[in-house]
Parts: sequence; structure tokens; C-alpha cells
Amino acid sequence: MDQPVRSPEVDRWLLELTQPEGRADPYPRYEAVRNAAPVALAEDGAIVLTRYADCLAVLHDPRFGRADPDDAFGAVGLANWRAMPAVFTISTSMLSSNPPQHTRLRRLVSKAFTARRVELLRASVEDTVDGLLAQLEGGGDFVDRFAFPLPVAIIGELLGVPPADRAAFQPLVRDWTMVLDVFTPEVLARANDAAAEIREYLRALAQERRRAPRDDLLSALVQVVDEGDRLTEEELVTMAALLFAAGFETTTHLLGNGLVALLDHPDQADVLRREADVAASAVEELLRYDSSVQISGRLARQDTEVAGVAVPQGSNLVCYLGAGNRDPQRFADPHRLDLHRHEGAPLSFGGGIHYCLGAPLARLEAQVALPALLRRYPDLQVVSGAERRDSLTLRGYLKLPVRC
Ligand code: HEM
Repeated sequence: MDQPVRSPEVDRWLLELTQPEGRADPYPRYEAVRNAAPVALAEDGAIVLTRYADCLAVLHDPRFGRADPDDAFGAVGLANWRAMPAVFTISTSMLSSNPPQHTRLRRLVSKAFTARRVELLRASVEDTVDGLLAQLEGGGDFVDRFAFPLPVAIIGELLGVPPADRAAFQPLVRDWTMVLDVFTPEVLARANDAAAEIREYLRALAQERRRAPRDDLLSALVQVVDEGDRLTEEELVTMAALLFAAGFETTTHLLGNGLVALLDHPDQADVLRREADVAASAVEELLRYDSSVQISGRLARQDTEVAGVAVPQGSNLVCYLGAGNRDPQRFADPHRLDLHRHEGAPLSFGGGIHYCLGAPLARLEAQVALPALLRRYPDLQVVSGAERRDSLTLRGYLKLPVRC
């Protein structure tokens, strides 16, 4: 069996992906890594995948799973991770669990977070988009005034967070999700404070809903029972917090990255403006072209292989979803934005048992928002002052000033 390839040039490109310049434009670096070594060995021992087929195979294969948090955090000096709300919430959530706990949590939440519940949000998405577009008249920061408030309002409504309380989640979720990348002690401290506040808020709200249920997801999660099994209070708070964290910035960045891609390709923006039935394929293409989630990690739970390359038990695998989305073996002319492309799903929502639970909701929001935005403001332009989030796992803009 072959061994994963380690080389100084791959080391350099992977290093660049951790730096602001590489993060700003990762695609040429992905391509260089893929051309040099599709199954590459990073300096820290992780195995790096940049082909679509390899990423998808790993995401679907039960021989790869999540790391045990005691091992993962113990190794980096955070043995007391359970006392850190930011790390505790992510690490004990469905996102970080393996079967059978993952299966159990996913089954319970899926009984409450149904396709019907998402479809019922369509009218709210349309109303919220209309209201936010009216407020964007003249221009301003697209992130602050549109791309962030939309998912905040919709997840807030889904869960049953009262409108007046929703805006406070914006800075809290942003601080908290900084721990998805490499973090400093200061970043971790801020993330812990933010996650603690979110947990407290959601715990109090869940207690209210337990006393007086309403027609919202939090009430449904409080009540959900599957063959006698139900969520404990800690699991319920963690699940609600996960939905908030997973559903906010990912969608904000889909809207921001999507808008920039469209404005960089005026012919494609015209397609979306003119063709009423192109919204679904357009959003799939925008997800592929510049995904707001670029990385999904797995751990080899046994000695195994990927594409004929040996992978020892305990290896960390880094699936570069954004690289797989631009793999020429999977997508014809992958660097071209083509809203009529029908070449199957990108990797942006992951795959296998952790496939994004909120994918239908994210699609709905983008399919309503982006065509409405371009139609209402045909002269919309990005003006100077755009600022990227300095991270690669979550890719998007913190500030995106526009004139319209
Ligand atoms: C454009 C928007 C979004 C993108 C690109 C995205 C992407 C992803 C990806 C890649 C994963 C899998 C992670 C992995 O396997 O390591 C995931 C999981 C998840 N996402 Fe999303 N997501 C988006 C929006 C949402 C929304 C709106 C929600 C909730 C309302 C949500 C909730 C979740 C949850 C709960 C999981 C964990 C599923 C599990 O572990 O079984 N996401 N998402």
C-alpha cells in the first residue's frame, strides 16, 4: 500500500492556508496541494484530502469518526474541557458525537426539526427578506444589515426566541465559533463567556417552554420522545445552542460569498435576475463555488486506507470541502461559475451521518434572498472596506459595504 506524501512544497502551501493571504484565496493552494499529493501528509501528522471522491468516501465511511474529546483536548493541555462552555457545548453535541450517541441525538432532533417545520418558515423568510431589503436602500454593510439579521431572525423564529432578544446573539455566536479554528487563550476565554451566556439564556427559555409549550422547535425538543427516550436538560440546551451556532454564520457567509461571486460575474447575476426557475441550481452552484464551510475533520478509528494510501488508526483526516468542490475530476471547468450547472451536490453540507441538518433551511433562505436582492437593486455594488473573517473552517465576510 502507498504512504501519504510529505513534501516541503506541500508543507509551504498548507502553511499558507493558515495565513491571512492564503485564507483570502485558498483555491490555487488547494489545487497545488492536490496536484502534488492528493493524499498528503501535513507537518503535524494529519492526512490532507483535496479530491472530491476521497473527501466524500471518508465522510461516508464508519471507519472514520470523531475524536474522543478527552484524548483530543488532553493532548493540547485542555484536560478540563468540560468546564469550558464553548468547548463543552461543541464536544458533547451531535456534531462531535459518534454512534450510538450520535444516532440517538439525531433521531430525537429529526422528529422535531422536520421538513414541514422548515417549509412553514417560507412565508417568514419572504417577509423578513422584504423588510431587510427595504432597510438596505441606499446601501450600508451588507453583513450587518442583511446577511446576518436574516438567519438570526429565522433561526430565532424556528426555535422560538422572542424577536427583541435575537440581535444579542450576533456577537455571542461570533465569539463562540472562533474556537472552530486554531485559537489563543484570549479567544478561548471570550468564547467560553459567550457560550455560557447562550446556554443560560436557552436553559431559561426551555424551562418557560416546558411550563407553557408553544408551536416552536424548542417546545418540540422539550416534548420529543422516541421509544421512551428523550433529551436530558443538558442535551436540550446543547442541541438548541448547536442549532444557533451552526445555522447563523454559515448562512450569513453563503449570502455574502454568494453576492460577491455574483457581482464578480455580471452575466451570472443577470441569469439569476431574469430566470425565475434558476434559484435552486444557482444556490447549489454558489455553495460549490465558494463554500462557507471549507473543512470537515475525521479521525481514523482503525488502521485503514484512503484511495490505496495507508491510514494508521488515530490519524486525523482533514477533508478540504472547498478543494473537493473545485476538483476537475468531479466538476467540469471547476473555477467557472455557472448557475445552470447540474453536476450533482457539492461537498459544502458535508456527507454521511453528519450531513448538515439545516441544509433545507439554508437553501430556502438563499433561494429566496439572493434573487430578490438582485432584482430589487440591479445596480448593487460592493464598495471599499470589505473585511474577511480570518479563519478557514468558516469562510466569509465580517464586513461587506455595498451601495444600492
Ligand atoms: C450555508 C449554510 C450551511 C452550511 C454550508 C453548513 C455546513 C455544514 C457541514 C459541512 C456540516 C457537517 C460537518 C461535518 O461533517 O464535520 C454541517 C452539520 C450540521 N449543520 Fe450545517 N451548514 C449550514 C447551515 C446550517 C443551518 C441553517 C443549520 C440549522 C438550523 C445547520 C445545522 C447543522 C447541524 C445541527 C449539523 C450537525 C449534524 C450532525 O452532526 O449530525 N446548518 N453543516
